[in-house]
Formats: sequence, C-alpha cells, structure tokens
Amino acid sequence: TAPPSLPVRIGHGFDLHRLAEGYKLIIGGIDIPHTKGCEAHSDGDVLLHTVTDAVLGALNLPDIGQLFPDSDPKWKGARSDIFLKEAVRLMEERGYTLGNIDCTIIAQRPKLSPHKEAIRKNLCALLNAHDSVVNLKAKTHEKVDSIGEERSIGCQAVVLLLRKD
Ligand code: CDP
Ligand code: ZN
Repeated sequence: TAPPSLPVRIGHGFDLHRLAEGYKLIIGGIDIPHTKGCEAHSDGDVLLHTVTDAVLGALNLPDIGQLFPDSDPKWKGARSDIFLKEAVRLMEERGYTLGNIDCTIIAQRPKLSPHKEAIRKNLCALLNAHDSVVNLKAKTHEKVDSIGEERSIGCQAVVLLLRKD
C-alpha cells in the first residue's frame, strides 16, 4: 500500500561545528567578520546544515551526511546552499511547500543581531519562502560548555511542511 501523504509534516534539525582560527565564519550564506570560523569539510554553514536536515527529516529522507558524505571530495569546500537547494527540490518533488520554519543559532560570540536580518533574508531566498514564514533567533550559551567557551557554534530548527493540493 502507498505510504500516507500527510497534510502536514514536522521536521527537526540540529548541527554543531567546532570553531577554529583560519576558517571563515559563514552563517546562512553570509560572511560574518570574526576571529574564528567553523571547521568543516564544506563551508561549515551551521544554519544551512541545520535547516537542510530539518527539511530532509520532515520528508523521512536520509540526513545531510548521508546524502552528501564528507568523505566525498566532491563536497570539499562546497557552499552549503547546494545542500539546502537539493532538500528544497526534494520537498517540492514530493508535493510539499514550506509552512513555516523557526531557527535558533547558539553562539557565545560574535554578536549576531547586526547580521540577523541579512541571514534571514538569504534563508528566505534559498527556501523560496515568504518573509513571514522564516524566523531566526540567536542565543548565547551563558559562557558554559563548548559553545559558551567559544569552541563551537550550534544551531537548532523546526520546520513545518504543508502538502500542496
Ligand atoms: O537573555 P537570554 O539568556 O534569553 O539570551 P542571551 O543568550 O543572553 O542573548 C541575549 C540576546 O542577544 C538574544 O536575544 C539575541 O537577540 C542576542 N544575541 C546575538 O545577537 N548574538 C548572539 N551570538 C547571541 C545572542
Ligand atoms: Zn554542519
């Protein structure tokens, strides 16, 4: 029997990258001036990885690491918008459209408020989504644990997909 085509599907995404000197800090496709950046095989865009996994998760698909293995030289230094655009393509192919998405970046530093609107606008564009359905928040980690000690940056997101009828 065919799997049920649910009218709404929820997805969750989480990602974390180590911070290190010698890497650019790219969040949501935006270059953020900082002394350190995210260590990764790709460009280390913690927000785009999180959102990609949230969309893939909502669709019951394999996660970002399975679809784009970091052992594959093809993805070395890759811009992460490639991953998100593929997730969006798979979403549309399966007959879903974005309902809304809510994201939280967890970073002790740098202060993201000056960049938040640019990041959010770029995320809207990558998702082909209306301005009113993409939300972005930033939190510190109260100076504790790896994020709070500026050794990493984390991100979480939840997404709701709606079936196009
Ligand atoms: O006050 P509360 O513990 O809820 O939040 P916080 O982690 O102390 O962050 C206070 C505010 O700073 C947040 O509401 C964000 O808008 C902003 N923030 C930021 O711009 N960049 C960060 N890396 C972390 C927080
Ligand atoms: Zn990542």
